[in-house]
Amino acid sequence: MRRRSLLALAPSLLLADTRRPWAEVEKILEQGNFQGRLSVDDLPTPALLVDLDALDANIAKMAAHCKAAGRALRPHGKTHKCPEIAKRLMAAGAVGACAAKLSEAETFANGGISGLLVTTAVIGKHKIERAVLLAAKRPDTIFCVDHEQNVADLDAAAREAGQRLNLAIDLNVGNRTGIATGEPALQLAQAIARHKNVRFGGLQAYAGQASHKNGFDDRRTMSRGIMQTAVDTRRMIETSGIPCPLLTGGSTGTYNIDSEVEGVNELQPGSFVFMDIDYARIGGKGDPVYRDFQYSLSVLTTVVSKPAATEVVVDGGLKAFSTDKPFRPEPKGIEGIEFGWGGDEHGKLNLAKASRNLAVGDRVEFLVPHCDPTVNLYDRIYGVRGKQVELSWAIAARGMSQ
Ligand SMILES: Cc1ncc(COP(=O)(O)O)c(C=O)c1O
Repeated sequence: MRRRSLLALAPSLLLADTRRPWAEVEKILEQGNFQGRLSVDDLPTPALLVDLDALDANIAKMAAHCKAAGRALRPHGKTHKCPEIAKRLMAAGAVGACAAKLSEAETFANGGISGLLVTTAVIGKHKIERAVLLAAKRPDTIFCVDHEQNVADLDAAAREAGQRLNLAIDLNVGNRTGIATGEPALQLAQAIARHKNVRFGGLQAYAGQASHKNGFDDRRTMSRGIMQTAVDTRRMIETSGIPCPLLTGGSTGTYNIDSEVEGVNELQPGSFVFMDIDYARIGGKGDPVYRDFQYSLSVLTTVVSKPAATEVVVDGGLKAFSTDKPFRPEPKGIEGIEFGWGGDEHGKLNLAKASRNLAVGDRVEFLVPHCDPTVNLYDRIYGVRGKQVELSWAIAARGMSQ
């Protein structure tokens, strides 16, 4: 009688679990030899998943767009921080990868990636020494600068090492770093040209405020205006007699806008590989939802507690999802559930209006509010097709924010 009432209370806990033993799962994970032997149900949670079909479709779409538009593609690696994904992008035609910081670029270089563009200025003696070492290993690396002293410091370090560094000027077209377009940028290009151990490679123009501007038409108006100031600066530098072979910029939200601007010859979008809830909200062409790219990224969790008939708790909280956006993770395949933060380790789900019930032990997969900082919380990402885990990649540049 007692056993029967227990069964009625928590059926899923007491049902036989037919999954293979953990020791076997651990061995498969360690050896990375999946070959159809591992199901998503075997993965310890919280786990970061990438749907390989969606990832490949996103990569193919962006690569085809850039090819048709005659623009180079140097996707930003700050999103995935994973050399294996950078390689997949290069196999599709990307010329290299952007890296937000020096340590991220070093990790990509160690992972076999060339064609690196370090999108943030490298400041200070030690970082500059490291930049010189990186350039010795990957001579095609380009470093962004926005200050004359930094140019002089890079030049001096390169001279000492008997090297020449490629520099691009970071233009202040957003709300962050960079030098003003027009005359100040021209003067910096002239300063670079005066130094013998650095080479002027071109311009970077990234405008985050345009990439997330809501509504396609408003986004196009804003981004076109911004990128035109960058193109005008490029022309100004060329007219002064300094060749300016590169104008790189753009983002997932503006890729098909910036590629129409004559003079922008390279795109550096990042989030398109994964997509996230933030980007879906910006709207597409004639569509309140931005659907140019598919959601490929998710976080898999397990229901670990059911404190009330209409509430469950999953094992993913502040340490499983980035919390920098005002909206919450969204469960995949269940309607009517609101995620609530339950502290560092947990998330609360109210089931009152849920399209299906959940029990302890059930798995719940979530779309993430913001892909980049969420990925940075994980050591590995599991590549899945349907229920099957096909591969596991190291997020090798996780935490590489130096
Ligand atoms: C310099 C730079 N370029 C490109 C990107 C890529 O933008 P997105 O992920 O929106 O495509 C970013 C993102 O923050 C960036 O900082």
